[in-house]
Order: sequence, then structure tokens, then C-alpha cells
Amino acid sequence: LASPKEKRRPFNGSYLSKFKESSIQDLEIDFKSKSGEKIPMTLSSSVMRNSEGEIIGVIGVARDLRETKWLLAEAAATEAERAKAQELERAYKELKDLQSQLIHSERLACIGQLAAGVAHEINNPLGGILVYSHLLVEDLNVDDSKRANVERIIKEATRCKDIVKRLLDFARQPQPKVEPTGINVVLEETLSLVKDQALFHNIKITKKFQPSLPNIMGDRSQLQQAFMNIILNAAEAMEGKGSLLIATDALPDSQFLEITITDNGCGIPPENIKRLFEPFFTTKKAGHGTGLGLAITAGIIERHNGSIEVKSKVGEGATFTIKLPMETKGK
Ligand SMILES: Nc1ncnc2c1ncn2[C@@H]1O[C@H](COP(=O)(O)OP(=O)(O)OP(=O)(O)O)[C@@H](O)[C@H]1O
Ligand SMILES: [Mg+2]
Repeated sequence: LASPKEKRRPFNGSYLSKFKESSIQDLEIDFKSKSGEKIPMTLSSSVMRNSEGEIIGVIGVARDLRETKWLLAEAAATEAERAKAQELERAYKELKDLQSQLIHSERLACIGQLAAGVAHEINNPLGGILVYSHLLVEDLNVDDSKRANVERIIKEATRCKDIVKRLLDFARQPQPKVEPTGINVVLEETLSLVKDQALFHNIKITKKFQPSLPNIMGDRSQLQQAFMNIILNAAEAMEGKGSLLIATDALPDSQFLEITITDNGCGIPPENIKRLFEPFFTTKKAGHGTGLGLAITAGIIERHNGSIEVKSKVGEGATFTIKLPMETKGK
């Protein structure tokens, strides 16, 4: 196999003398074949001695490593190919997710435009119905039997007007008019708007407000609306009986304040969680919810550069966590 003339440098006398001295195990060296091909090999040797301890011979085994090396290279190539395939698969999945997110937000934008169009068209005739039914009820005597019917018309038309208002709020998505705002004050104001409603009479409200919070840059009335939607949902989920915990704090090592609103109501099943902020997603009976509350809330929080998330266990309740950036000094 190896021609002595073509022996490579490492395989020289010093190695040969090593063979004589002691055993060698798996010494890796390169041979060169007659044709000049480099042949990686391992050499192992064992010295044989007679009973007096004199060396009487050396047994050596040389192993051609070409096949092993080739197999190892093959394995490495297969591994690299597998990693590449995995990477491609991951990139493909990312692309698909992104695409479905885009389709989703495009669909939401379409719904928004449609809703705005319909709401706008309905708003004026609805105003007319309300004005004329008010005029009609004023003309009727208090004991007139038709009065109840006209009052019913006013009640239902007012409900329609509320829905239209919510649709327009959702569709218009006005930019917040921001000013330095104390989040605890906004929450207090929101609570004072709801707490006298019958739905809240048997709900124990606990406030855990961190007293010395920095301001945020916020639109007070939009934020009130955002919190109100969450608080009303909580009261509805508790069917008017339970406890509501509202807490505020500054997040450590961060420029964000955190507001958590926790109820011990019916909770939200996992399959609904991801649809919660979609417009028109509601589990309430027809006429009891438009499914716009949380969509409006999410829009408001987003336009305040904040985030909103929800955790819930069915039967135990739900916690909505909102993070809003603090006012940065000097801006
Ligand atoms: N705290 C909560 N506990 C349990 N379910 C909730 C809670 N908050 C929201 N949900 C669920 O999320 C759905 C969507 O809420 P969202 O406020 O957007 O609409 P809605 O309350 O149904 O109608 P709207 O607010 O327009 O009157 C609700 O129908 C309800 O199923
Ligand atoms: Mg709601």
C-alpha cells in the first residue's frame, strides 16, 4: 500500500522507534498511496517481549480510515441537510402565520369600514325616529294606552343609537388627545360611573392602587371607555355577584405601568381567548352584546402604545392585564 519513498513526514524514524519502545494506540497518520492519494490511517502496535523482558517483535495493525471518514462526512452532510430542511420549514411556517395575520387584520379593516358605512347611514334616520317619538309621547296624556308603545319605541331606538355609537367608535378609531394623566384617577372616575348601576350592587370592589405612580400620556375619556368595557364585562361574567379587584403598579425595571382587573366570574374557555378582541365576537344572547367592547378597548390601548392580555380559567374568573408606557420626562 505505502511506498517507503512516499512516506509522509510524520511517519518517520521517530515513530518507528516509538513502536519499539511501547505500545501505541490509534495513532492517526496520513499515508500516501503510489498514485499520490492521501490515505488516512490509524496505527496501533504492541511490543512482544520474552520472559527476560527483551523485545522479540512488534505486532502492528494499520486501519484504513477512508471508509469511516467518508461515512462520517456523509452523516455530517445528512445532518446539515436535515438542519437546513428544519430551518426552511420554520421559515415557511413563519411566513404562513404572517400571511394569516395579514388576512386577519385586512378582514378586520374591511369589517370596520363596512360597519362605519352602515352606522353612518343609520345614524340620521335613527335620530329622526327618536325626535318624532319624543314629540309623540309629549302629545299623549299620561294615562293614554298608546303611551307605553311609544315609550317602547323610544327605548329600542335608544338602544340602536347606542349600538351605532359603539360601531362608530370602533370604526373611527380617533387618535387619542394625550396629556399627562394619572391612571389611578382615571380608574376612580370609571368606577364612579358604574358603581351605582344595579349590576354592581352585589359586587365587592377592591382597589389596590399604588399611590405614587408616575403619569402616563393618555386620553382620559378614551381610557375611561377602555376600562369601562372591561369592568362591565367582568360584572356581566359574575352575573352581578362576586368580587372585582382592580390593581395598579409600576413594573420594575421598565417604563410601563400595569393595571390588572380581576373578576371571579364564569371565566373564558381557551378557544374563545384568541377571539376575544375581534369585533363582533360575543357569547351573549342576541340583543345583549354587540361584541365590540373589547375590540374598542384593544384599539384604545394600542393607540396608547400599550398592550392588553387576558388570563382565565373556566369557572374561576378572568384577569385582564394592561400595560401603558409612563410619561417620559422632557417630552
Ligand atoms: N371578564 C370576562 N369573563 C368572562 N368572559 C368574558 C369576560 N370579558 C369578556 N368576556 C367574553 O368576551 C366576549 C366579548 O366581549 P366584548 O366586551 O368584546 O363584547 P360583549 O360584552 O359580548 O358585547 P358589548 O361589550 O359590545 O356589549 C364576551 O361576549 C364574553 O364572552
Ligand atoms: Mg362587553
